[in-house]
Amino acid sequence: MITHAVTDNRGARATVRGLQWANGRETRKVPMPATAQTELPGQAEADQHAALPAHDPASGLALPTLLDVYRARQVVDRYLAPTPLIQPPALGDLLGCNAYVKCENVQPIGAFKVRGGINLLSQLSPDELGRGVVTASTGNHGQSIAYAARLFGARATIHMPERANPLKVAAMRRFGAEVVFSGVDFDTCTGAAEADAAARGAYFVHTSNEPRLIAGVATYALEIIEEVPDLDVLIVPVGGGSGASGACIAGKGINPRLRGIAVQAEGAPAVYETWRSGRFVAHDRVDTFAEGMATRVSHSLPAQILWRRLDDFRLVSDQDLRRAILTLLATTGLLAEGAGAAALAAAYAMRHELAGRNVALVLSGGNLTLDALAGALATEQPW
Ligand SMILES: Cc1ncc(COP(=O)(O)O)c(C=O)c1O
Repeated sequence: MITHAVTDNRGARATVRGLQWANGRETRKVPMPATAQTELPGQAEADQHAALPAHDPASGLALPTLLDVYRARQVVDRYLAPTPLIQPPALGDLLGCNAYVKCENVQPIGAFKVRGGINLLSQLSPDELGRGVVTASTGNHGQSIAYAARLFGARATIHMPERANPLKVAAMRRFGAEVVFSGVDFDTCTGAAEADAAARGAYFVHTSNEPRLIAGVATYALEIIEEVPDLDVLIVPVGGGSGASGACIAGKGINPRLRGIAVQAEGAPAVYETWRSGRFVAHDRVDTFAEGMATRVSHSLPAQILWRRLDDFRLVSDQDLRRAILTLLATTGLLAEGAGAAALAAAYAMRHELAGRNVALVLSGGNLTLDALAGALATEQPW
């Protein structure tokens, strides 16, 4: 049984989804939207979204804007080709909608995170680059920082959980990063990374409270909207929430009618619970094989964006993540890691709500170990 602590958002006056806040104190409860919706709300709901504040009151950080995403796009385009957006007929048949898959698994690190790393490192000063960068990661964020550090000539140190995905560890070392195993999970490693950065005088990269990472990863949403301007639904996996925040800033910034739907693993629901309750939630452990979504703690900058822009949030089981991995493989030949298959798992669960819609699923990463694939093949079937 997972236990959790709930802390108040000590922010300025704000109305968040489901709760109203004034100086960090809950003042009025507003009924939550039902989780199981039979119909997709349209403009009326989108218009109810509160304006985004310029800053996150908890961290003081500026919220990234659509303009920041367009600026990031200019940087990212110099180093990365746009990824394919495919429309697999078999997946459309299975889901009963026009299903698109954004193939971020073909990025040079096998995951969408590289967009954020490149945007952030491109904006560090020569002095900051010279002092090196330190971060914590379950894998793909670390790969992104390692890859970008090599591009921009910085030394990278990545703190990882002891039982990290060996494919991701090997990739970071290949990019020249130092890998330090410093805890049982991602959130423990974050503390170790922060202390290490302070000791080295290096730049500490926060995985979620970093507007330049959010603006960078948001470029995948720009690419999707450019190809399918009449997209109805965008489904995105969540770990810390930077990818989903970026999708909200870019996708809904361009088209407020677009529905943004986030997905977390049932065994790692901190950001989901934060979004639903209007309060920051932290768990004392996580339980999912999908390491890209295995975060215990939610962070304030993504929360500010998701509270005001995200339309829905779903949880999926590890069993359904494995089924989604096999379904993607069987219908498209694409290999997704657990987090990368989460959008399909959620879409399958809500297929009746999505019928006839234009729906994009973000295949956020493909770094699945062969052992994990063998485990899925041994225990599950595709849908
Ligand atoms: C493949 C994959 N998908 C999704 C996520 C979640 O991204 P975020 O932390 O931006 O929510 C991650 C995080 O590392 C990931 O590696």
